[in-house]
Amino acid sequence: MPSPQEILAELKKIKYPGFSRDIVSFGLIKDIEVAHAEVTVILAAPAAKPEIINEIAGEIRRAIGAMAGAPPVNLQIDQAPPPRMAGTLPRRPIPGVSHVVAVASGKGGVGKSTVAVNLALAMRALGWRVGLMDADVYGPSVAMMMGGEGRAGLTAQRCIVPLERFGIRYISMAMFIADDTPIIWRGPMVTKLESEFLFNVEWGELDCLVLDLPPGTGDAQLTITQRVALAGGVIVTTPQEIALLDVKRGVAMFNEVEIPVLGVIENMSFHLCGKCGHRHEIFAHGGGKSFAQSLGVPFLGELPITRELREGGDRAQPIVAVHPEHPVSDAFKSVAANVIAHLSRAEPPAG
Ligand SMILES: Nc1ncnc2c1ncn2[C@@H]1O[C@H](COP(=O)(O)OP(=O)(O)OP(=O)(O)O)[C@@H](O)[C@H]1O
Ligand SMILES: [Mg+2]
Repeated sequence: MPSPQEILAELKKIKYPGFSRDIVSFGLIKDIEVAHAEVTVILAAPAAKPEIINEIAGEIRRAIGAMAGAPPVNLQIDQAPPPRMAGTLPRRPIPGVSHVVAVASGKGGVGKSTVAVNLALAMRALGWRVGLMDADVYGPSVAMMMGGEGRAGLTAQRCIVPLERFGIRYISMAMFIADDTPIIWRGPMVTKLESEFLFNVEWGELDCLVLDLPPGTGDAQLTITQRVALAGGVIVTTPQEIALLDVKRGVAMFNEVEIPVLGVIENMSFHLCGKCGHRHEIFAHGGGKSFAQSLGVPFLGELPITRELREGGDRAQPIVAVHPEHPVSDAFKSVAANVIAHLSRAEPPAG
């Protein structure tokens, strides 16, 4: 019989339908037990649609069935409804922070973290005091993009002191999970971590805190949007039709918790040639704009695919901080100006 660890390793190869991330790192596998010549897998998928669960269940059965000894699989699906706290618990403001903006995407890999980091820097360039929180425990990239050197400290009151670079205070939830923590335990830990850390960081006075949400519109995202007094959400998409459809889910998520959608950003909209500065249309671009209009949400702008943007992310040299004169930095500043205008008009979040 394979061990639970071996099974977990196999399940890690299964991608969540429509995402580049696997089902284990998504926190879907609640438990694995090997006993009485049988493998029991408990799948926690409260927010997933039945057809998605069926697809994942089929993949799990196939993966375990293909292991040595082809053990029989007892698959239990835990579909306890997600905690619905809107209306029952007051949304808490984060101490010292005037506005909290969440950057979300229906789909992974669309450039959400890239946008969160550079949007925060662009708001900073426009004179706002800005913080950035990586709420994506499973795929933290804010620390990498901002420069993850150093550890966050603790005050005497056990408040977390964020790191600071390029005039931005930032923190990643991943800084608090040791690399050797078995990923299977992380699922239940996430919600706890989030509530502890969201309100326990010594930001000082901030005009805006930008939250980089995990990709998707499931439980983890919903929990945060229900817990924090958010001023609004920004949805990042790419021009492909499949990504655009996920925008609808993003808008629906914010609608459900009654958070205004500040707008949609279309990333990787066209290619901006680093040599000639020429604009090449790779996808049928512009879909983001018309789609946002059809959903009745503002369109905040489009960002080109550029090598500098990717390299800036990989090398902890974010483009807005390092090449403020670059056309992409201008594009981020115009998005930031839009967001600031909206927040300045809006009432500060109620306590
Ligand atoms: N406009 C762009 N031009 C070039 N590269 C980009 C652009 N936007 C994002 N990238 C690159 O694409 C990759 C994915 O971007 P990023 O990590 O920001 O996406 P994400 O939506 O946060 O992903 P995840 O869902 O894993 O959190 C990164 O390597 C990033 O540098
Ligand atoms: Mg990301």
